[in-house]
Amino acid sequence: MTALLEVEDLRVAYGKIEAVKGISFSVEAGSVVTLIGTNGAGKTTTLRTLSGLLKPVSGHIRFNGKVLRGYRADRIVALGLAHSPEGRHLFPRMTIEDNLRLGAYLRTDREGIDKDIQRYYELFPILGERRKQTSGTLSGGEQQMLAMARALMSRPKLLMLDEPSMGLSPIMMQKIMSTIAELKGQGMTILLVEQNAQAALRLADHGHVMEVGKIVLSGTGDDLLHDESVRKAYLGED
Ligand SMILES: Nc1ncnc2c1ncn2[C@@H]1O[C@H](COP(=O)(O)OP(=O)(O)O)[C@@H](O)[C@H]1O
Ligand SMILES: [Mg+2]
Repeated sequence: MTALLEVEDLRVAYGKIEAVKGISFSVEAGSVVTLIGTNGAGKTTTLRTLSGLLKPVSGHIRFNGKVLRGYRADRIVALGLAHSPEGRHLFPRMTIEDNLRLGAYLRTDREGIDKDIQRYYELFPILGERRKQTSGTLSGGEQQMLAMARALMSRPKLLMLDEPSMGLSPIMMQKIMSTIAELKGQGMTILLVEQNAQAALRLADHGHVMEVGKIVLSGTGDDLLHDESVRKAYLGED
C-alpha cells in the first residue's frame, strides 16, 4: 500500500540556516501521525513546506500519488491537504460563520458548504451558538475549534494540525484531543504537531521525534510513549 503522504529527505532553509535537515516519513490513509519535539526542532517549518508556503531546498513530497514540486499553496489545498496553522490565524473581526466559509473558498458546491458548516456546528456546538459573533470574541480553545473546523471546510484528505493544544487549559486541551480522536474515528487522516508529547502519542498510530531539524526517533505511538529517552526528554520524567 502506498501512503497518502510521503516525505523523502526533505530539506528546508531560511537563508543559510537549515531548519529541516533531510527528514523522511509517511502518513498512511486513515492514520494519525505525530511530529513531536522541542521548540525550534523544525516541526512548523515542515508543515509550512508541505502546504506550499515554504519552498524546500531539496527532497520529495508525494501526496495522493502526486509529486508536489512547485505547487502553490491554494493548489495544494485543492488537492486535499489542509493546514490549521500554529497560532490559529483566524480573522478576528469576521464572524465565526464567515471564517468557516473562508475555509471553503476553493469550493463551489454551495449546498455542500452549507451542509459542512452544519456538520461542524454539530461537532462544535459552541461555534453554532455563536455563529454571528466575531471570532475575536472566542476563548483560546474555541478559537482552536474554529481553526480546525475552518481547515476541515476544504474537505481535506489529510488534515495538518500545528500545536492545537498550545496555550489551552487542561480541560480544553482534553476536549481538543478528544475531537481529534473523533475525527480519526470518522476516518480522517491527520498529521499532528504537538509539544504536548504525551497527549499526541496517546492518539497517534505513529510518531517521530524531531530534534534540530532531524528525526531522531520513530515508532508507534505506544512504543514512543514507553521509550525511556522519550519519557525523560518529553514527558518530564527522570
Ligand atoms: N521565518 C523564519 N526565519 C528564520 N528562521 C526561522 C523562521 N522560522 C523558524 N525559523 C527557525 O527554524 C528553526 C525551526 O523552527 P520551527 O519550524 O518553527 O520549529 P518548531 O515548530 O519545531 O518549534 C528554528 O531554529 C527557528 O528559529
Ligand atoms: Mg512550531
